[in-house]
Amino acid sequence: MSYARITVFDTTLRDGEQSPGCSMHVQEKVRLALQLDRLGVDVIEAGFPIASDGDFAAVRSVAAAVPRPVIAALARAAKHDIARAAQALEAAVRPRIHVFLATSDIHLQHKLRISRQQCLEQAHEMVRYAKSFCPDIEFSPEDATRTDPEFLFQVLEAVIESGATTLNIPDTVGYTVPSEFGALIQSIRQRVKGIEKAIVSAHCHNDLGLAVANSLAAIGAGAGQVECTINGIGERAGNASLEEIVMALRVRADKYPYETQIATEQLYPTSQMLEEITGISVQPNKAVIGRNAFAHEAGIHQDGMLKNPLTYEIMTPKSVGVPDSKLVLGKHSGRHALSLRCEQLGYRFERRELDEIYRRFVVLADEVKHVHDHQLLALIREAYGEDHRIPPARVEAEQAASAAVGDDSHRRFPGTPSDYSAAHLSPVPAPEHQGEQEDYLWGV
Ligand code: KIV
Ligand code: ZN
Repeated sequence: MSYARITVFDTTLRDGEQSPGCSMHVQEKVRLALQLDRLGVDVIEAGFPIASDGDFAAVRSVAAAVPRPVIAALARAAKHDIARAAQALEAAVRPRIHVFLATSDIHLQHKLRISRQQCLEQAHEMVRYAKSFCPDIEFSPEDATRTDPEFLFQVLEAVIESGATTLNIPDTVGYTVPSEFGALIQSIRQRVKGIEKAIVSAHCHNDLGLAVANSLAAIGAGAGQVECTINGIGERAGNASLEEIVMALRVRADKYPYETQIATEQLYPTSQMLEEITGISVQPNKAVIGRNAFAHEAGIHQDGMLKNPLTYEIMTPKSVGVPDSKLVLGKHSGRHALSLRCEQLGYRFERRELDEIYRRFVVLADEVKHVHDHQLLALIREAYGEDHRIPPARVEAEQAASAAVGDDSHRRFPGTPSDYSAAHLSPVPAPEHQGEQEDYLWGV
């Protein structure tokens, strides 16, 4: 089956940078742009050159340092903006000028104070001007989702006529919903004359938490490009998150028969780099790349994960570049994960003995939330002293045996110290004498 190819337009360095606390220096932008290149994005929007000398320099440096992707620069529909963007893009192998002009009556009346007719003429004229600098021109009717659709179609026809090659439809204020946005993209594809000469693009903001859902609806309706940012950073509640869109397409290819050129195992390293550069942490429960995205605390989940990760994970951590799943030891944890952590720390117990450790562990976990390795070790020693320490010779023998059959579970011992007890996942075979249901009930 051949999948339609979706162009991934990353605007972390432009729209993402516009979010409070996320501004980046030139060298930081170049470093992130090189990582976006490794990630495989098709277009990098490197900045808004008229905004400041720093932004101009950043676009210039990214254009010179990163030859493979298209490098885009933003410009208002004004000659000096466009000329400045073109100048910043001089070194780009594949430059794109991205011109925008608001089209909703709210913006025309209260912000720009121009009529619809003036807007139409300005869009037409400025895209033509941009085209005199470079063949690849994107046009965005800002606040498109609150624009009268008939007027929107007229503007889009005018800019196609002037040479726009990508028509980006921004949900500037994150107002639309998936069914409405999908229908809008579809009607643009059906009603706008000359639309076959351009790619339709979606640019969604997350004010209602719908940016990714709206982007997917647009793709389903025929958008060929999606605009997004790493970690979903961007104005106000942010932009559509690149990692979520890409993994939704990848994991649910049965529903979305589209492909991207993204090297998904670079998603987590890219997210981490952005976090390091901006100092803005990702929420722990953020889909795909959040600290808890592959962490399991509930006993029932831990038990399932140890038997087969398919029970509670729909993608592997490795597929997005996360080193491993984690079983976090807290009050919801069960015996199965506890016994694994004990083994990682060098202690092995029979069931009855582990029951005693578990009883003490639950009391402690109720008090301290996350049980640290040193607390677990103290608890073990208090209950049984050093009686259950796995002899080093046995550990070595087990490691050698599992290495011989290509099993990396020998890495389980000794455990890696961490700020809280987090057992990295290595399935433990269930004891043979137990019935399955009995084992399940014991394990959690
Ligand atoms: O959200 C928006 O409308 C924008 C445009 C400049 C594309 O970021
Ligand atoms: Zn935006």
